[in-house]
Amino acid sequence: MINNEEKLYVAHSDHPLIIEPKMANRHGLIAGATGTGKTVSLQVLAESFSDLGVPCFMADMKGDLSGVYKAGELTKFIAKRQDEFGVKFDFQPYPTQFFDVYGEQGHPMRVTIKDFGVMLFSRIMSLTDTQEGVLNAVFRICEDRKMPLDDLKDLRAALNYIGQNAKEFQTEYGNISSVSVGSIQRNLLALEEQGGDQFFGLPEFDINDFFSVEKINGIKKGMINILAADKLYNNPKLYSAFLMWLLTSIYNQLPEVGDMDKPKFIFFFDEAHLLFDDASKALMEQIEKVVRLIRSKGVGVYFITQNPMDIPEDILGQLGNKIQHALRAFTPKDQKAIKAVAQSFRTNEKFDTEKALLELETGEALISFLDEKGAPSIVERAKMLCPQGQIGPITAEERKQAMKESGLEKKYGETIQRESAYEILIKESERKQKEAEEQKAKAQAEKEAEKRRKEEEREARSKATSRKSSSNTWYGKALTSIARNLGNKLVNEVIKKLK
Ligand SMILES: Nc1ncnc2c1ncn2[C@@H]1O[C@H](COP(=O)(O)OP(=O)(O)OP(=O)(O)O)[C@@H](O)[C@H]1O
Ligand SMILES: [Mg+2]
Repeated sequence: MINNEEKLYVAHSDHPLIIEPKMANRHGLIAGATGTGKTVSLQVLAESFSDLGVPCFMADMKGDLSGVYKAGELTKFIAKRQDEFGVKFDFQPYPTQFFDVYGEQGHPMRVTIKDFGVMLFSRIMSLTDTQEGVLNAVFRICEDRKMPLDDLKDLRAALNYIGQNAKEFQTEYGNISSVSVGSIQRNLLALEEQGGDQFFGLPEFDINDFFSVEKINGIKKGMINILAADKLYNNPKLYSAFLMWLLTSIYNQLPEVGDMDKPKFIFFFDEAHLLFDDASKALMEQIEKVVRLIRSKGVGVYFITQNPMDIPEDILGQLGNKIQHALRAFTPKDQKAIKAVAQSFRTNEKFDTEKALLELETGEALISFLDEKGAPSIVERAKMLCPQGQIGPITAEERKQAMKESGLEKKYGETIQRESAYEILIKESERKQKEAEEQKAKAQAEKEAEKRRKEEEREARSKATSRKSSSNTWYGKALTSIARNLGNKLVNEVIKKLK
């Protein structure tokens, strides 16, 4: 909730703990072992930002975050906290938009293969460096030849075509080995089987649809955008790459704004460790860069994970607002992590940080937020406030209702097929086939003409021969002898006359 000073009141020790709105873009962390209260803390934060008029995005791993769409109810747990804190929760619904890359539990969220990019695409298909190089060449060839790569069938068609004509592209784009093309094609098939064909394509998700603000009971509330991730999460690489694409798109599309009184948008990245699991060096650099620079575009990124040690140091160091729920110390590695986490807080002499980390109850956390000057406060042992929306999932019917209300069905409901690589290459192959057929017909016609010519020649020759040989027949011979007699007679006559 927000307090009288329009600050985010989200937890309570012996006094209210607040996130300074102007420091909310200095990122944050919600960590803790399973069942310690991370999801509910996320909900408390999201609702508070919405109260402040700041929209946010979150992935819903189990469906339980959908509860923000409905007003919550007073439970014993909540009543106890109200008494302890001396506050009264105003149970209320929040403006909510549901998305689902599979189009089942929310509006479809699609991205074109080209915009998803070589790096993230290689990651979801676990390509080797060499294969990534080939994929890069394929993307460039398609770009140069104006063949849009929208969906998986575009990429498949492009790979087939480029693979078959590899020699033609070699000088300009480097070696395109058929082995690499073959492996990419196999990976593509696996991706299709996992439903990947549903979220690559058009219409592409428009980031601006995240940023709406809605009036509820006369008060402006930031939109809470929820991506159903229970199914998507089955493919951790796909899940984390998709979220990274969203974050990068927000970063690319928003203008620089510098320091603001409150953030423009909050991006919650749940199960964040998945993003860093065997990420390439290039991807790590990209994440680090986006997280560092997106702040000046007014966007706060809040990572949610079980163990903060799963987040690389460079990024962990940038997370200013921290909510650390209980950790478990089962293994020596856990114990080491607990020490490191405890040391990352400024000590509070009222308690032992390391010990507290193991004792925290559900919905209780060690908290350090940035003060007005941007310095981390000393650690506080505090209880989180309770959500004002419902804790736990809404029904399928309620979800349908929310989707109807959003007005996004028309925009995203149906896929759009434009002339992209697949269609262009089909046309190209049809043109080539037609050309080949025409060529064949022409060659056949020429062959037949030649045959006819030869036949005619032969005929003419045989006619001539038959004329010549006609002198050898009986009447020919007779004629020759008559002519010869006549000739002799004529000669004798002339001789006589001369005598
Ligand atoms: N601030 C809170 N206010 C009211 N109830 C809470 C609060 N925090 C936690 N709870 C209760 O504790 C339960 C478990 O919390 P939550 O689901 O947030 O745990 P989690 O850390 O997200 O677990 P997991 O890692 O399994 O996702 C909630 O369903 C809720 O009943
Ligand atoms: Mg959870």
